[in-house]
Amino acid sequence: MSDLQTPAARPANPRFSSGPCAKIPGFTLDMLADAPLGRSHRAAVGKNKLKEAIDLTREVLGVPADYRIGIVPGSDTGAVEMAMWSLLGARGVEMLAWESFGEGWVTDVVKQLKLDATVKKAPYGEIVDFATVDFNKDVVFTWNGTTSGARVPNGDLIPADRDGLTICDATSAAFAMDLPWDKLDVVTFSWQKVLGGEGAHGVLILSPRAVERLETYTPAWPLPKIFRLTAKGKLIEGIFVGETINTPSMLAVEDYLVALKWAKSIGGLKGLIARAEANSAAVNDFIKGKDWIANLAADPAIASTTSVCVKFTDPAIKDGAAFAKAVAKRLEKEGVALDAGAYRDAPPGLRIWCGSTVEAADVQALMPWIEWAYRAELAAQ
Ligand SMILES: Cc1ncc(COP(=O)(O)O)c(C=O)c1O
Repeated sequence: MSDLQTPAARPANPRFSSGPCAKIPGFTLDMLADAPLGRSHRAAVGKNKLKEAIDLTREVLGVPADYRIGIVPGSDTGAVEMAMWSLLGARGVEMLAWESFGEGWVTDVVKQLKLDATVKKAPYGEIVDFATVDFNKDVVFTWNGTTSGARVPNGDLIPADRDGLTICDATSAAFAMDLPWDKLDVVTFSWQKVLGGEGAHGVLILSPRAVERLETYTPAWPLPKIFRLTAKGKLIEGIFVGETINTPSMLAVEDYLVALKWAKSIGGLKGLIARAEANSAAVNDFIKGKDWIANLAADPAIASTTSVCVKFTDPAIKDGAAFAKAVAKRLEKEGVALDAGAYRDAPPGLRIWCGSTVEAADVQALMPWIEWAYRAELAAQ
């Protein structure tokens, strides 16, 4: 279909990957010049940087003063697994999953820890009905399903007064969505998502009740040093003031600090949330009224504002998976959207990262390209 015109404008930044995500606007490597490279992270200069990262995390996210914030190894996966290995087994467990990462935590708990957990799953694009969840058990769930574009709308269905702990993987939600701290006992995320930071480190946030569990319960299984949060039955408080379990990357820490300071400069959490909402609205406004494309999350109340997943709904499409892949390839080849194909385990489609580091003008500029790629592929199939 040679008469198909390419759109006139291109996104200035075509990085729509869902992790690592786009760096902050205007990012250059020079911004990391203050990183204390070649110095010990246990020297004052290193410790101060780590402490500043913890303090700014608390300030920007609005984490309550009595919650601990630790920088831990292994990115978000490390933080989630450290929490599950350290806390679970004391009481019944419910595992909630609605996409690939949540399912990974189910595998951990059922197959590795071998706990007799109640597992509740919802299909891609939906979430588990929280009204059916027993919060007197420990409940593990992902706030925003990065690979399905479906998120928990709010914490209303989580009782403030509960016997179990809530363990929440919030990696693609933190900094872009409101998190109800009184409803969450463990929150984890990595720097490479909403703030466009680097991989490697995870953040583990613990409520006082989670700390109490750590100090009163010893799991039946061995814990490697990298997971150990207590010594002689007491919380290792140093972890929560920047004395990391093992050596962190001070370059990644500096990069996180730069991103946190940018976050403050645009209005903190409110500003960050507004940016993600404007970005996702740009996708949803484009989709509205079109019969060939739809949000994978049909219910707007649970549709993600960061990892927006769309599917192609035109019945003329012959092979859905091949079609979506070919569209993503066209977008990549044109240099208008990098890494925007759906996750390998997710239904075919596109996943457009709309987190806070992405510019709304870039999302808007991408939309006509999606239509162009869809029409070009339809003509070519
Ligand atoms: C919901 C969710 N959990 C966990 C992870 C794993 O994160 P990391 O690679 O930072 O450990 C991801 C990564 O995309 C994710 O989206």
